Amino acid sequence: SVLILDFGSQYTQLIARRVRELNIYCEIHPFHKVPQDLSAFKAVILSGSPFSVRSDDAPHPDLSHIKGKLPLLGVCYGAQYLAHFHGGKVAPSSTREYGRANLTVVKDAETLFENITENSQVWMSHSDTIKELPANAITLASTQDVLNAAYRVDGEETYGIQFHPEVYHSTDGKQLLHNFLIEIAGVVPDWTPGAFVDMTVAELKEKIGEDKVVLGLSGGVDSSVAAILLHKAIGENLYCIFVNNGLLRKNEFDEVLHQYKDMGLNVKGVDATARFMDALKDISDPELKRKAIGRAFIEVFDDEAHAIEDVTYLAQGTIYPDVIESISVNGPSATIKSHHNVGGLPDFMKLKIVEPLRMLFKDEVRRVGAEMGMATNLLGRHPFPGPGLAIRILGDVDLEKVRLLQEADAIFIANLKKWKLYDKVWQAGVILLPVNSVGVMGDERTYEKCVALRAVESTDGMTADWVDLPYKFLQDTSNEIINKVKGVNRVVYDISSKPPATIEWE
Ligand code: XMP
Repeated sequence: SVLILDFGSQYTQLIARRVRELNIYCEIHPFHKVPQDLSAFKAVILSGSPFSVRSDDAPHPDLSHIKGKLPLLGVCYGAQYLAHFHGGKVAPSSTREYGRANLTVVKDAETLFENITENSQVWMSHSDTIKELPANAITLASTQDVLNAAYRVDGEETYGIQFHPEVYHSTDGKQLLHNFLIEIAGVVPDWTPGAFVDMTVAELKEKIGEDKVVLGLSGGVDSSVAAILLHKAIGENLYCIFVNNGLLRKNEFDEVLHQYKDMGLNVKGVDATARFMDALKDISDPELKRKAIGRAFIEVFDDEAHAIEDVTYLAQGTIYPDVIESISVNGPSATIKSHHNVGGLPDFMKLKIVEPLRMLFKDEVRRVGAEMGMATNLLGRHPFPGPGLAIRILGDVDLEKVRLLQEADAIFIANLKKWKLYDKVWQAGVILLPVNSVGVMGDERTYEKCVALRAVESTDGMTADWVDLPYKFLQDTSNEIINKVKGVNRVVYDISSKPPATIEWE
């Protein structure tokens, strides 16, 4: 496996994802907790950082048990770190070095640049530059503005690169990581979905034994894949609970419950619609709605879990980005909306936690699901918020509004599928606005609700762009909603990006 030491760069997770794409397992550890036992690691990558090596508070961990002992690649700050603290000199750049640049490989036949085209485009993002290398280092590549764009320390497998190979704009970045990890460090690319399934099932069997596990299914990809893995490992000792909070998409509860049963899961469907509606009564503040729903979920789940005798474990579909965020250099990021908290289960449940996906990125979760034969409609499903339609009904929530929104949403989603747009969109949904406006239908004046359509492109939900849907699609969808959904006389399309807007309206 590969160790990635995080110095706080916004690109650290991208490095990990590129490494995983090479079928190589890697772990991110923050710079202030450098692992001392390196026996599991075959190579180390140092990330970039918002810090300058020249500042007093620059991260400066002791890497003497790594440097010169394991193949080591410093990226950006990592490269500057390896120069500055080992006899080289780092200074502020005289020109702005942000964006695309082209590499000239100085020294021929270097393994690091094998199969990389001459003048390869790379992505730069730094304000310091390496003016002088350590005495025993040699320049491997330059760009027009950066003399030491890549270097190697003689007699060691230590490399520094000023550009970011993990960013897509570095066209040969993946090849460079391949060269470093596979050709230079000799890491075996054996991290495949199949290998992950075999390894995880064996580990779960070993860890859980004959104990019972309870798991809350949400209909989403993560909890479903976690359930199938656990089912493979412990069969009927996995007790799944699928709660209908009454805030799911139209027909979703019944359809997904059926699918779960068809997959052989031991699943209990619990219709708690009334309880959730009760909890939400007259609440219109978005955060209070989330809290009310969270509380109701815990109550329902707790009742159900207690009904199963002698449960030892609670399984969760936590994935790697949540784990990284909770241990990251910068600590958990500011709460914009309260859903970003991991865990959230009450202490009184006193169950041991098992999280079979905690080392996987989202795209890997999908690959693992596909490997286990999960249906494509479950795997390719758009993300859907835990509080469901409640945060797409602005203002207070009642069953009538939910029904209306479900109808409009079902038309939007069905049309996306009909037009073969569903898989091109990262997430889509309809928002019910708390305003009435005047319309005319037949000869009658109407004074009815307005809905907004929202469709975004994104890779992780952190940033998003609205999708340029065809006008004809929007026209057909608007007509269909207004004609079929009683109570709606106006449809608008949301053309806000995130940031500054968010994907959901609440
Ligand atoms: P925002 O609205 O913050 O959403 O841009 C980013 C992603 O998170 C989903 N989301 C939630 N998921 N509980 C969840 O489980 C929530 O309270 C919640 N709020 C937003 C949203 O659908 C999008 O995918």
